[in-house]
Amino acid sequence: MSNIRIGIFGLNRGGHYIDIILANNGDIVAICDKDERKIKNAQKKLGDVPSFTDFDKFLETPMDCVFLANYFHEHTKYAIKCLEKGIHVLSECTSNSTMAEGVALCRAAEKSKAMYMLAENYPYMLFNQEMKRVFDGGTLGKLMFAEGEYNHPGNPYLSEKPGLKYLISLREFDGHWRNYLPATYYVTHSLAPLMHSTGATPKRVTAMPIFIPAPEDSDATKRVGDKTAVIMTQNDDGSVFRVTGCAAFGAHDNSYRLCCTKGQIENVRGGDGKVMLRYNDWEKPEGKNEVNYYLPELNDKDKELIEKAGHGGGDFFVIREFFRCIREGVQHPFDVYFATTMASVAILGHRSLLAGGAPYDIPDFRLESDKKKWENDNSTPFYYSDDYSDELSAPNIPLSSRADYKPSKKQLDNFAKWLERYDNGEFDNL
Ligand SMILES: NC(=O)c1ccc[n+]([C@@H]2O[C@H](COP(=O)([O-])OP(=O)(O)OC[C@H]3O[C@@H](n4cnc5c(N)ncnc54)[C@H](O)[C@@H]3O)[C@@H](O)[C@H]2O)c1
Repeated sequence: MSNIRIGIFGLNRGGHYIDIILANNGDIVAICDKDERKIKNAQKKLGDVPSFTDFDKFLETPMDCVFLANYFHEHTKYAIKCLEKGIHVLSECTSNSTMAEGVALCRAAEKSKAMYMLAENYPYMLFNQEMKRVFDGGTLGKLMFAEGEYNHPGNPYLSEKPGLKYLISLREFDGHWRNYLPATYYVTHSLAPLMHSTGATPKRVTAMPIFIPAPEDSDATKRVGDKTAVIMTQNDDGSVFRVTGCAAFGAHDNSYRLCCTKGQIENVRGGDGKVMLRYNDWEKPEGKNEVNYYLPELNDKDKELIEKAGHGGGDFFVIREFFRCIREGVQHPFDVYFATTMASVAILGHRSLLAGGAPYDIPDFRLESDKKKWENDNSTPFYYSDDYSDELSAPNIPLSSRADYKPSKKQLDNFAKWLERYDNGEFDNL
């Protein structure tokens, strides 16, 4: 099996993939991050692999593919550069942070011989793979309704405890995307498992916010006052999804549930990966009980590596699948249309929430008419770091459902003090 030459762009998240790439016969031929500290850190594992702070120079290295793990909202233009050079792309979420970018990405992928795959790992968590297996088996009947929750609350107070350096590194300057992330935008971890398991594609979206700003004395305040948004989609097969972005209900959890005409399956909240499969008593298949509660088994040649990998093994499958598709010359199902559909749910879900829950149609960017409709829509809640026109460099839409919400000066000053200490290296050992 020939080795695949891969470059990694963005070495926070990208750095976590090093071992998995190597374990899948990937040659990491170049790394890129504008932060030299992250390059040095990666080189502890990789030796003197060629390193770059500039993406265009990095892309001059001969390679088969690039893993894009730069800022959440800035993947599109780098993906397009790779596709134009015939280099396969594995992009962290989200594929695009504006509707116009979604159109541009699809156009670039349509012209390119290279493959695009969204690096969405949650569908590969073991319980999500089990839900897909059971759904595909047909015993549950037709999909009616499904739920996906990616629930990741964060402490609004910082303290000098182990892990502090990591926590601040997640948003190490004020304009960082994590500070400006509206409640609907991080939707792929809740939505992708449902779309992948069932094949249903969102066609219409509405969203409702839950507005609870951080406490007045908090020191880790973000710019967004919505703690969570509940997003509903009507899908092409008539089913309905209820999903979240990065939600912040009390108590961390990722949970999913598929409800069908004959039965339903879910991963049990707090159930350590256990699955509950239930049928109507008059429709249960042979050999199944009405209620089946079990831990899905992992029968895989790479079992040990999968169990070591992050996000319930999902990270391992993303690389193995990406490399398999490159080797076999096939397109992975997490293509530009799968990715931009989810980005549209995120972006238009936010528009819906700003418009009191008004419904928005989700475009299909395979269609030229839908491309034309959205190709100039550059509305964004984010700051962009480089190379963008003035018009796009700062947020141009409200970040929260209460459009005028801003953290207080005291809250922002509190966070700024921690950032200053972080920049001075005070937490380097924490
Ligand atoms: N799938 C998952 O489970 C998961 C988990 C964490 C993060 N992510 C995704 O991974 C991506 C990265 O997340 P993160 O937490 O590492 O983000 P981050 O903002 O902390 O890090 C981004 C890195 O990219 C570098 N970078 C950005 N722009 C650059 C440029 N123009 N030139 C050179 N370097 C540049 C930054 O210096 C930084 O090191 C995001 O899309 C995030 O959503 C996914």
